[in-house]
Amino acid sequence: MKKNILCIGAGYVGGPTMAVMADRCPECRIRVADLNAARIRAWQSGEPPIYEPGLKEIVARTLNRNLFFTADADAAIEEAEIIFVSVNTPTKTFGEGAGRAADLQYWEKTARQIKAHARTPKIVVEKSTVPVRTAEAMEYILNAGGGVRFEVLSNPEFLAEGTAIEDLLHPDRVLIGGRDTPEGRAAVAELVELYAHWVPRERILTAGVWSSELSKLAANAFLAQRISSINALSAICETTGADVAEVARAVGMDSRIGPRFLKAGVGFGGSCFKKDLLNLVYLCESNGLPEAAHYWRQVVEMNEYQRRRFVRGMLAHMFNTVVDKRIAVFGFAFKADTGDTRESPAIHICRQLAEERAKLVVHDPKALENARIDLADLGDAVRYEPDPYRAAEGAHAIALLTDWALYRELDYRRIYEAMVKPACIFDGRNALDHGALFEIGFNVYAIGKPPRAH
Ligand SMILES: NC(=O)c1ccc[n+]([C@@H]2O[C@H](COP(=O)([O-])OP(=O)(O)OC[C@H]3O[C@@H](n4cnc5c(N)ncnc54)[C@H](O)[C@@H]3O)[C@@H](O)[C@H]2O)c1
Repeated sequence: MKKNILCIGAGYVGGPTMAVMADRCPECRIRVADLNAARIRAWQSGEPPIYEPGLKEIVARTLNRNLFFTADADAAIEEAEIIFVSVNTPTKTFGEGAGRAADLQYWEKTARQIKAHARTPKIVVEKSTVPVRTAEAMEYILNAGGGVRFEVLSNPEFLAEGTAIEDLLHPDRVLIGGRDTPEGRAAVAELVELYAHWVPRERILTAGVWSSELSKLAANAFLAQRISSINALSAICETTGADVAEVARAVGMDSRIGPRFLKAGVGFGGSCFKKDLLNLVYLCESNGLPEAAHYWRQVVEMNEYQRRRFVRGMLAHMFNTVVDKRIAVFGFAFKADTGDTRESPAIHICRQLAEERAKLVVHDPKALENARIDLADLGDAVRYEPDPYRAAEGAHAIALLTDWALYRELDYRRIYEAMVKPACIFDGRNALDHGALFEIGFNVYAIGKPPRAH
């Protein structure tokens, strides 16, 4: 084996990233370590603990060939020449910066663990999303007291859940930040070589460490901002009779703007956008830039407003009460093609509806187990149903919250027959054929579009 690589953190990023690297770099021996023994057992069994299209097949090709999973990072540290760190960096829930700053305890513990077990020089690669200048703190910890020399690089991950494998195989770009010193440049060159196994050179960007760290926060802030912008417009569309899809199409055909990420809906979710925006807000605040902080904070607030507005719309169209009414929730994952429900708009919308004393029946093809955990405290107010037709039986309304393709293919005539009349559909992702649903007899309410009610 030419190179020994270790990744600490076998989550949504560490697992798929290392599986693709093992696939494309057969001469490297790659180990992925995690504290969570159940997660490691799942990876080792060939049934990954997360759902991503194409992931299982790549793991099947590489597992125990040059990809290995272990619960013992300590033992793997010394053997590795390159160590990726892909641990979670959630929003801090306590103390200074609570609710905004990134909680870096897992990152720091990992750095200390590497220092404790390394006997030879290593390149340590920041894969986790971190505040600007975290690499500096890491380098300080790792190199404190002399001894083994560590070079810290920033290599943020830009994959999107649901398309992670495709994104990893064909990234828009790979970003590597390093120090402008002979050691820094050599470490960057080594990482570039690794990615060049499958990524065209012109797509591998190198930058300073701080620019690289900030670029990840900036990319997520821009993406989230586009969603909040189109959602803010969807509210105006509903009050003026314009159609947000027509507006988005016209705006998106401007080559300076582009068509992607302009779909109105119930808002963004996932473990990253909100966390990274808040992280940016905190950075601005702590650097004495309150106006810039306020600007980015507003992107998060617009997202929360959009969810509240959706539930308010449901109430208004259901005679201002949903007490004891059955509502089928179609989709609980934060987006299609993933089982991940972290920060899913569905969590907030279901909670608001439960507060209004609706009876919820949740369906999702991949996220029902996570939904059960997320809403455990709501008890009998929520049922979890693996069959969408049964979920809609006896319901007054359907709320579509995740854009799974399967919801476009259901037999809505059959669903309509089994529902209480008037039967309403609230399309929170503008995913369905509204004209056809209206013809069947549904009252159809979509985001940023005129209502179609009988
Ligand atoms: N999920 C995404 O789509 C995505 C995309 C780009 C970047 N990121 C960033 O990547 C990082 C990881 O995200 P994720 O979604 O994979 O998180 P995750 O929670 O799915 O995985 C992190 C894993 O790290 C493990 N871990 C924590 N401390 C450890 C330690 N000391 N030793 C061993 N294992 C440890 C945890 O047990 C967990 O399994 C975050 O900083 C996130 O912001 C995530």
